[in-house]
Amino acid sequence: MEHIIRLPVRFNVVFGHSREISKINWQQKLKFNRSITSQEVFDREHKYGAHNYHPLPVAICKAEGVFMWDMEGNRYFDFLSAYSAVNQGHCHPRIFQAFVDQAKILTLTSRAFYSDALGEFEEYITRLFAYDKWLPMNTGVEGGETACKLARKWGYKKKGIPKNQAKIIFAEGNFWGRTLSAVSSSTDPLSYNEFGPFMPGFHVIPYDDLHSLEKTLADPTVCAFMVEPIQGEAGVIVPKTGYLKGVRELCTKHNVLWIADEVQTGLCRTGRLLAVDHEAVKPDILILGKALSGGFYPVSGVLANNPVMLSIGPGEHGSTYGGNPLGSRIALEALKVLEEEKLAERAESCGKILREELNKLPRDVVTLVRGKGLLNAIVINKEIDAMEICLKLKDQGLLAKPTHNHIIRLAPPLIISTSQIQECAEIIRRVILTYCK
Ligand SMILES: Cc1ncc(COP(=O)(O)O)c(C=O)c1O
Repeated sequence: MEHIIRLPVRFNVVFGHSREISKINWQQKLKFNRSITSQEVFDREHKYGAHNYHPLPVAICKAEGVFMWDMEGNRYFDFLSAYSAVNQGHCHPRIFQAFVDQAKILTLTSRAFYSDALGEFEEYITRLFAYDKWLPMNTGVEGGETACKLARKWGYKKKGIPKNQAKIIFAEGNFWGRTLSAVSSSTDPLSYNEFGPFMPGFHVIPYDDLHSLEKTLADPTVCAFMVEPIQGEAGVIVPKTGYLKGVRELCTKHNVLWIADEVQTGLCRTGRLLAVDHEAVKPDILILGKALSGGFYPVSGVLANNPVMLSIGPGEHGSTYGGNPLGSRIALEALKVLEEEKLAERAESCGKILREELNKLPRDVVTLVRGKGLLNAIVINKEIDAMEICLKLKDQGLLAKPTHNHIIRLAPPLIISTSQIQECAEIIRRVILTYCK
């Protein structure tokens, strides 16, 4: 049976990215087949799906712009943005149009043949980020795998590292996905416990510590240092100013490739096109993913200059879906939206307002506020359950998720308006104040 969700007056919608959208009749748009309740959604997933996630108890059936709706028609501000994959806002109309237009004519060729879409995207992305070449993949973790493979090849062919001795250095607290390689560099027991044996040649040093880096890079068998400019999953850990510049200098000095994992921090999230732009430095290998497709489709890949990228030849790396025409057209539009809607600037200004408001919260509950642009976190007093706070935020119409028990990441889509940021800061304040003695 078909149901119409009737929205109370407070659900009136104004979206950041399109004036036209706000004119649409939302009663009509929300007409859908709502045959089950949120509880039934939870129960079905629990019964038939693997238990490898612990979601907040909210069942989303629709999203647009900065908002999401659950099965009962309740509206929420999205303060996770699918871990920064929907920087452009949910179901962005321009990306949606590119998706539909391309899906009608050509979706997948495999790389056995050329497509007209891939080269056009490659030209655009390499010009935008000023690298010679793009190597396309799908998920963020494949981007990381690709970067590691490129670095090893370069290490053997260009740096002259003896066969099978190449080392890659990572930073404590890193997160770059869930494959065996990615968990081999992890320092989070939940990620790596009982998944061994692990990838050899991976070494971990402290994050934000140039002294340790310098000592490690002196080893001539090191081919690369892979690091997030701000550690997202670790709890939005922002390194000291000068760290990225120092990384660049040390990697250059020791002839080691610097791999920047900007899968979460890149594409305007931190108030610049890239987080490394805050220190005006350029990595040798740049990994992008997530918002590269604005949430429509997994698109990732790495950028590098010829001496690195051309160390890999035909047959040495690839992916059936990597660089497909559908993903390429979506990613092209997703990048244009970021630029043309000036989302880096928006992230910068809204982020400042948000942190200013968060910094007014009582220190006995919120012990620390940190972040850049719209990638932020509040650190909660360890005696308080951060999950419980997130449940209270949900009841007030804002969805956020704890990372590491006592940290809550606050990362809305970048199209959020200043008045919406103020409204959300007020929701957070109301919830936090319930914990004041
Ligand atoms: C910095 C970073 N790199 C890589 C990944 C992995 O991306 P994916 O989940 O698309 O494989 C993530 C995911 O959160 C990430 O935050």
